[in-house]
Amino acid sequence: MVARWDCASFALVIVVGLIFSVAEVCNGGRTSSFVRNDQLSHDMPLDSDVFRIPPGYNAPQQVHITQGDYLGKGVIVSWVTPDEPGSNLVLYWGENSELKRQAEGIVLTYKYFNYTSGYIHHCTITNLESDTKYYYEVGIGNTSREFWFRTPPQVGPDVPYTFGLIGDLGQTHDSNRTLTHYELNPEKGQTLLFVGDLSYADAYPLHDNSRWDTWGRFIERNAAYQPWIWTAGNHEIDFLPEIGEDIPFKPYLHRYHVPYKASGSTSPLWYSIKRASAHIIVMSSYAAYAIYTPQYKWLQKEFQKVNRTETSWLIVLMHCPFYSSYVHHYMEGESMRVIYEPWFVQHKVDVVFAGHVHAYERSDRISNIAYNVVNGLCTPISDLSAPVYITIGDGGNLEGLVTEMTEPQPSYSAFREASFGHGIFDIKNRTHAYFSWHRNQDGYAVEADSLWFHNRYWSVSEDYM
Ligand SMILES: *[C@@H]1O[C@H](CO)[C@@H](O)[C@H](O)[C@H]1NC(C)=O
Ligand SMILES: *[C@@H]1O[C@H](CO)[C@@H](O)[C@H](O)[C@H]1NC(C)=O
Ligand SMILES: *[C@@H]1O[C@H](CO)[C@@H](O)[C@H](O)[C@H]1NC(C)=O
Ligand SMILES: *[C@@H]1O[C@H](CO)[C@@H](O)[C@H](O)[C@H]1NC(C)=O
Ligand SMILES: *[C@@H]1O[C@H](CO)[C@@H](O)[C@H](O)[C@H]1NC(C)=O
Ligand SMILES: [Fe+2]
Repeated sequence: MVARWDCASFALVIVVGLIFSVAEVCNGGRTSSFVRNDQLSHDMPLDSDVFRIPPGYNAPQQVHITQGDYLGKGVIVSWVTPDEPGSNLVLYWGENSELKRQAEGIVLTYKYFNYTSGYIHHCTITNLESDTKYYYEVGIGNTSREFWFRTPPQVGPDVPYTFGLIGDLGQTHDSNRTLTHYELNPEKGQTLLFVGDLSYADAYPLHDNSRWDTWGRFIERNAAYQPWIWTAGNHEIDFLPEIGEDIPFKPYLHRYHVPYKASGSTSPLWYSIKRASAHIIVMSSYAAYAIYTPQYKWLQKEFQKVNRTETSWLIVLMHCPFYSSYVHHYMEGESMRVIYEPWFVQHKVDVVFAGHVHAYERSDRISNIAYNVVNGLCTPISDLSAPVYITIGDGGNLEGLVTEMTEPQPSYSAFREASFGHGIFDIKNRTHAYFSWHRNQDGYAVEADSLWFHNRYWSVSEDYM
């Protein structure tokens, strides 16, 4: 067992009725004894099946979709044509409809040192029916390809909806295992919340951007059929002034479009969406976030817009975690935590998902917001208005796992394990959601960690988590 809060003395100062829940807090703090196979993660070779170029002249590749508006009635379809710009049109039709509609998008290219991108298309489809399966076709004119997606039910507080969670994916054999486990998980994620660090193209000489293309082809098998909600990580910065590449996020921003204007944001690096019963806020750990910055001002307004009667669940995504007890990247999120944690508590955020640290960790509901420089109150305390912090940076990229943990395990850390895997956040109704973490070594249905979430806004007060 590891050291943790002195439960007895802590319990003395609180009212008798709360002893049970405090005891529960103190029962947390487990470091998993699971020992994974100690192989390095190598990138899949260029001739792997997952990177195959679709046949046909100028065939669309790297097809992926994300939400295209604030409420989930829009979809952004993105794809790349390699040989010529081709068509910007997307044809789409409802499952039970004969009528094919079309939407027109844009095409752009970019250069990165001596790399020139293919023709990157983005097309926003709007005014879709809720809870409807749509087919869509891209590459009209030369070689076309067909895919499908399902729109979410109309926004509402009790709408069941299942989100997947993956972070720091990369393109190794482990990345492929993570994606496969997500796809074959019987809990069936309907939308993937991606917490940053996509392709790891920047691990190659000159940030070889053709590894952005291979990554796009790798994830297509999932991302063309269900929206991936994007968060930018440090591996998206691609800042290399030595070779003249001094515009941060250039490849990422050209390739992955998000509906940031719909939430009143002025940057694709931070934005929010409502989907089913969730209001999802995406923040940027690598854009200015201090007081008075655009991100700060936007989030201040956005929290005012959250309506828990409409979207009962409040979820925040960011790349760099506020709470992580691994040695690698230790305290990197601290300056951002100091600024935003009070808002998370005030607005009763249910859960914060982050990546960056290549491992899994789940916190108790804790906050550390009392410190004012002189009062010495700088230890996380149990706080039922605070979110649970989950680090899920264990997608399987080439940097491998981080295994070194700070010891003893801090009292706020409920469970930690360095294994590759993914998460599922399964919303049942306005009061209950079920979170599970699935490690790649296990069978598809096995839960290596799990927790019932009781909504911070709607649950009755004696509910603990
Ligand atoms: C990746 O996973 C898919 C699905 O499990 C499999 O069909 C494919 O062969 C794998 N590719 C590589 C290179 O591991
Ligand atoms: C870019 O430059 C590097 C280093 O000079 C070279 O190895 C690579 O082949 C070049 N790539 C292209 C697409 O020209
Ligand atoms: C592809 O389609 C475009 C537009 O219809 C046409 O101009 C072009 O010649 C076609 N290319 C080939 C190789 O068929
Ligand atoms: C919140 O949403 C509910 C349900 O849609 C609506 O009735 C109510 O007016 C909204 N509240 C505000 C302040 O907009
Ligand atoms: C909400 O979901 C939980 C878990 O499935 C269930 O126990 C509870 O009865 C549901 N609440 C309502 C009001 O249906
Ligand atoms: Fe990272």
